[in-house]
Amino acid sequence: MTTEHKATMSFSDGTPSVEFPILTGTIGPDVIDIRKLYGQAGKFTYDTGFLSTASCNSSITYIDGDKGQLLYRGYPIEQLAVHCDFLETCYLIYYGELPTPAQYQDFQSLVMHHTMVHEQMQFAVRGFRRDSHPMAILASLSGSMAAFYPDSLDINSPEQQDISFVRLIAKMPTLAAMAYKYSIGQPYMYPQNHLSYAGNFMHMMFATPCEKYEPNPVLERALDRILILHADHEQNASTSTVRLCGSSGTSPFSAIAAGVACLWGPAHGGANQACLEMLEEIQANGGLEKVGEFMERVKDKNSGARLMGFGHRVYKNFDPRAKLMQETCREVLAELGLENDPLFKLAMALEKIALEDDYFVQRKLYPNVDFYSGIVQRALGIPVNMFTCIFAVARTIGWVSQWKEMIVDPEYKIGRPRQLYTGLTERPVKPLESR
Ligand code: SDX
Repeated sequence: MTTEHKATMSFSDGTPSVEFPILTGTIGPDVIDIRKLYGQAGKFTYDTGFLSTASCNSSITYIDGDKGQLLYRGYPIEQLAVHCDFLETCYLIYYGELPTPAQYQDFQSLVMHHTMVHEQMQFAVRGFRRDSHPMAILASLSGSMAAFYPDSLDINSPEQQDISFVRLIAKMPTLAAMAYKYSIGQPYMYPQNHLSYAGNFMHMMFATPCEKYEPNPVLERALDRILILHADHEQNASTSTVRLCGSSGTSPFSAIAAGVACLWGPAHGGANQACLEMLEEIQANGGLEKVGEFMERVKDKNSGARLMGFGHRVYKNFDPRAKLMQETCREVLAELGLENDPLFKLAMALEKIALEDDYFVQRKLYPNVDFYSGIVQRALGIPVNMFTCIFAVARTIGWVSQWKEMIVDPEYKIGRPRQLYTGLTERPVKPLESR
């Protein structure tokens, strides 16, 4: 970070003007360092939704919303999705460099030998109703890892940071698969360490003790790419939640559980489930013939209808992940002989209309990562209510890497925003009998 220029804030209420340093990063918008504002002017900034606020400095992921650019540690997502697998991407995001073949082999062995969870976890799952949403179970199980690994509270220990990182990316697929198996009344499948990360996840999800299961390599690669595309995304809502929760010094497992809870929302990671349910509803009510009618409802604010999988706080051109997800969608549907999948055709029709319709063009609403991911996951045999769990499994690497980056940052402080108070001024309490 460098600072060459300054910003001066002047006030019309007689408050003396204040100068702030402008900080410049390597790429992307400069920031105005306003940390001294309250001390010098007795005022806060006001930015609900953090539309213009940089909460931290980070060297992990860069997004350019106008160019539709996404870099993990400087590498374009389009190249990582083609040349790397998810474990290489995890190594890159956490350590900052792509692994050498020897480093990759050691890392793969390390992760795949931490995939089992404590046997007691099964009793935690058993406390849930069978029809519980898997995200509710995953939020609970990921947080319960803090109970199984109390040493993780030593957050300043590099050894504890690293082993928590490995445990999280190794065990989240196991926990997600347990939530799924429990919901369908099937026995849990133990991890198979000879399989790839994605292959093992598919095995734990779809295998049964009754017959041999070998993942379809095309589908295995598709799932691996879905994980890469969802791995990290700068200071999105769930990552910001992990940072704020972790800033109190709590266990990284508790902070990740908070991230899982935040990701579940339909405005965030829950959009993939909401998007597929939207497509299924349109399909059930007439399909392609009804697309125009649905889009008119979306444009009518009173209808409450939203085009799920569209729009993004940062991407105001296109989400590079959506293009890659659409390609993956085509590959998977072709592999499964589902090129004429009605929902895929419906999604393509919705996208075409949205890209030409002024309402969406003016608001810069383009497909985001969630628009096609639901169709791919459904084709892979993943049930709709598991879509956001897949997102959480992938995003765990981003969450834990951003958590670590915060913990080792010399500027690290507990996050404590302020407010604009609009409530009542002080007033006396009347005892109950006189109210
Ligand atoms: C993810 O932040 C990240 O990086 C998130 C994520 C990640 O990897 O972590 O990329 C993952 O969460 C992707 C987004 C998934 N969510 C959805 O697909 C849900 C549908 N989209 C939205 O609800 C919305 O677009 C958001 C939440 C994604 C972004 O909302 P903003 O930036 O707060 O924008 P907004 O709600 O203020 O919308 C601006 C305008 C509004 O219209 P006007 O009031 O200006 O007339 O666009 C409209 C909105 O009504 N609008 C939509 C719309 N999204 C925005 N109208 C119809 N359909 C939509 N999907």
